[in-house]
Amino acid sequence: MKKGFFITLEGGEACGKSTQVRMLKEYLDKQVNHDDFLFVREPGGTPLTEEIRKLLLNYEIDKPLPMTELLLFCAARVEDVYKQILPALSQGKVVIADRFYDSTIAYQGMARGIMSSKDILSLTKKIIGGLTPNLTFYLKISPEEAFKRKSKMSEGMDRIEKEGLLFHQKVKEGYDFISNLEKDRFYILDATKSPQEIFEEIKKVLNQKIPEYFKDDLSEEKY
Ligand SMILES: Nc1ncnc2c1ncn2[C@@H]1O[C@H](COP(=O)(O)OP(=O)(O)OP(=O)(O)O)[C@@H](O)[C@H]1O
Ligand SMILES: [Mg+2]
Repeated sequence: MKKGFFITLEGGEACGKSTQVRMLKEYLDKQVNHDDFLFVREPGGTPLTEEIRKLLLNYEIDKPLPMTELLLFCAARVEDVYKQILPALSQGKVVIADRFYDSTIAYQGMARGIMSSKDILSLTKKIIGGLTPNLTFYLKISPEEAFKRKSKMSEGMDRIEKEGLLFHQKVKEGYDFISNLEKDRFYILDATKSPQEIFEEIKKVLNQKIPEYFKDDLSEEKY
């Protein structure tokens, strides 16, 4: 049986994570046995974690304290890991997560400054039994560039997106910190390139890392 492989996509607001997830889904639909793949978004995917997501991102009545925010993200992650991610990995699937604990290091650690990034890393690993992604794509972009994209988007911003430039600069520092600390699992992408260029690079990396999941060579142009 295949071993299972855990991939995360990370980076600040509007760096293009969900765009790449969408492109990958469409690509996989045409290429491979879709049952081999599970896509999750953090927090979310189960009835309970979708409710926690709403509380975290869109609850306007009573702003949570930073520590409450951290613990809600952690609570949702425990649910996601034990109910979705670990069962899928143990069935030999590739799990692809739109955000995971690096987001907590960047947002609740570096940007909110609740506790040191190292302490948050140790907390977030402990509660999920030490699960670490096998591969993390970090879509790197300056908050200034990302803000330009946001301003063009029609939908409203959630509570965290509404934070100012300084907050998002610290988020980027957080991602730079963790990608430097856990270098081996990180693949850094220049998120200012076009979606198609970025996707080509992602395909190339996947073809190298998990060729057994693909019928055809991902590096060939078929998308
Ligand atoms: N490589 C790119 N170049 C230019 N624009 C892009 C690129 N990738 C995505 N976009 C656009 O930027 C916006 C944000 O993209 P997307 O929703 O994929 O980002 P995200 O990282 O998922 O954001 P969030 O953190 O808010 O979920 C969208 O309007 C999308 O079309
Ligand atoms: Mg997104």
